[in-house]
Amino acid sequence: MAFSPAFLDELAARNPIEEVVGQYVNLTRKGSNLFGLCPFHSEKTASFSVAPDKQIFYCFGCHKGGGVVQFIMEQENLDFPDAVRYLAKRAGMEVPDDRAAGSGYKRQERLRELCRQAARYFREQLFSPAGAPGQQYIMKRALSRQTVTRFGLGYAPEGWSNLIDAMTAQGYTKEELLEVGLVVRSQKGGLYDRFRNRVMFPIIDVRGNVIGFGGRVLDDSTPKYLNSPESVIFNKRKNLFALNVAKKSKQGRIILTEGYMDAIALHQYGFDCAVASLGTSLTEEHANLLAKYTKQVVITYDGDEAGQSATRRAIDLLEKTGVQVKVLRMQGAKDPDEFLKKFGPDRFRLLLEQSENHVLYRLDSLRRKYDLQADDQRVEFLKQAAYLVASLPNAVEREIYGAKAAQMGGISEEAMKLETEKAAKLLRSRQKKQWDQKALAPAAAAQPGVREIRYDNVRSARAEEGVLQLVLKEPALLDRCPEAVSQRFSSPLLARVLDLLRQQYEEGLTVQLGALGDRLTAQEMSHLTAVAQKGDVLVNEQALDDYLSVIDEEYEKAHVADTEDLLAMGQRLRRKKGFGGTEQ
Ligand code: CTP
Ligand code: MN
Repeated sequence: MAFSPAFLDELAARNPIEEVVGQYVNLTRKGSNLFGLCPFHSEKTASFSVAPDKQIFYCFGCHKGGGVVQFIMEQENLDFPDAVRYLAKRAGMEVPDDRAAGSGYKRQERLRELCRQAARYFREQLFSPAGAPGQQYIMKRALSRQTVTRFGLGYAPEGWSNLIDAMTAQGYTKEELLEVGLVVRSQKGGLYDRFRNRVMFPIIDVRGNVIGFGGRVLDDSTPKYLNSPESVIFNKRKNLFALNVAKKSKQGRIILTEGYMDAIALHQYGFDCAVASLGTSLTEEHANLLAKYTKQVVITYDGDEAGQSATRRAIDLLEKTGVQVKVLRMQGAKDPDEFLKKFGPDRFRLLLEQSENHVLYRLDSLRRKYDLQADDQRVEFLKQAAYLVASLPNAVEREIYGAKAAQMGGISEEAMKLETEKAAKLLRSRQKKQWDQKALAPAAAAQPGVREIRYDNVRSARAEEGVLQLVLKEPALLDRCPEAVSQRFSSPLLARVLDLLRQQYEEGLTVQLGALGDRLTAQEMSHLTAVAQKGDVLVNEQALDDYLSVIDEEYEKAHVADTEDLLAMGQRLRRKKGFGGTEQ
């Protein structure tokens, strides 16, 4: 469906881009722009910009850009109409003529509501007579009433269709239950409840929506945990258990655990900053998400081999986002839940304060791999340690950890330094090779999905871009642009956009790119926001006139060239056919 320009204008006005983006990205002001870490690609230095005056965002790194609607499309994975509905809801606006009940956003809202109702049902069951087994289990795990409430824990009773019956009675369909995975289809085609006789952990996203569940058995049977499958509302790669609570913590860090029970136990003992990755290993999206909410992540995965290799992967991913990474190692307990029960919160707090920064953790893990009594293994350890030290970003760190490694391997600091320099050289040449390969690859390959828009006449196009930059900053300059000037533009895209901006201007709307979302492809939008964010042009009439005269010049040139071509062709034709007889 098409939204009216007036509606889109109001929508943009009621959803200031700096405010909307600010809910996802930490922004700091630099001149007239705000900068932050791009939510669409992973980076350490902020190349993601928001221009409040132009109401656009643009990333100088991955080249995504657009208005507030495009931002929500990318961020929330919605199409244009649904992103518009999303923002309308945010601003408390009525969407005109929104009868498309089958639309993605509406459907997702309904599925989220279904999950919320299911969570409520499980909670009620826990406190009903049927919930006795669940209550007992919760008591056995020593979870307080407050914890149960805070995390909305519940119980799925024994039986094949308790939830199906309760939810269909509320008007939800079996298809909807299937779609969020609360119900499973048997091989014979019948439907049954996925979660039976399990303690239920609702999985809640950062905005407070219930998007899925984990369910734990009450005994030792398997599978120990059963989780909702992924669905249109539940993406495991993008969500962390308990982040909705931890994001409000004042403790200045986030503790990353493996399990539901670990996160919950930590909260119960006062560590209200704990989260759990949902039975999957940490993803790049998780790491980026964490970096939005904290500057320090402490990893406390299980001590087993699986947990340790998950730790190494998590370190790498988190490092890339620029957060400070620490690792907490426990002894005498397999996970934080067990540790807290055995040794209490004070001991855990001590470990937390002593938690090693990740370099020490890595050096130590490395050391454990080798038998340092054997010379050949000691040499191998030192070689690997040299690489680790060489890859550290600053000299002070290299000095400190170099000394540490030397001490571990029983060699002098001088010898270690030499080894490190050798490793650094190798790393540099390897990196250079990578860079060269990147430089050779076409831009399109480096950034899938972002194809460059090419201009036929670069000189004219630069001037056309200039005109757009000017009118976006000072719409009144449109009065000075001749009506037909866009017909002289060499770039059809820039011409079209100038006309659209003029239309906004004439209808008394805000002149902005953001409201053109349904008229431009994502690629065109990114290109245009890049243009708008390019260099700060001096806004004055002289600048506009200069651009217009370049456009005119180029237009005339092309036109004369065309005419000359035609004349020449005519002559050739005449010669061939002996046409007209008057050979020159
Ligand atoms: N997990 C899962 N499916 C399983 C086992 C585990 O999804 N069959 C996920 C759960 O998110 C669980 C986490 O992996 O919380 C860690 O598993 P594990 O260490 O086995 O469980 P604990 O967290 O120690 O659970 P509990 O203390 O309840 O035994
Ligand atoms: Mn456990």
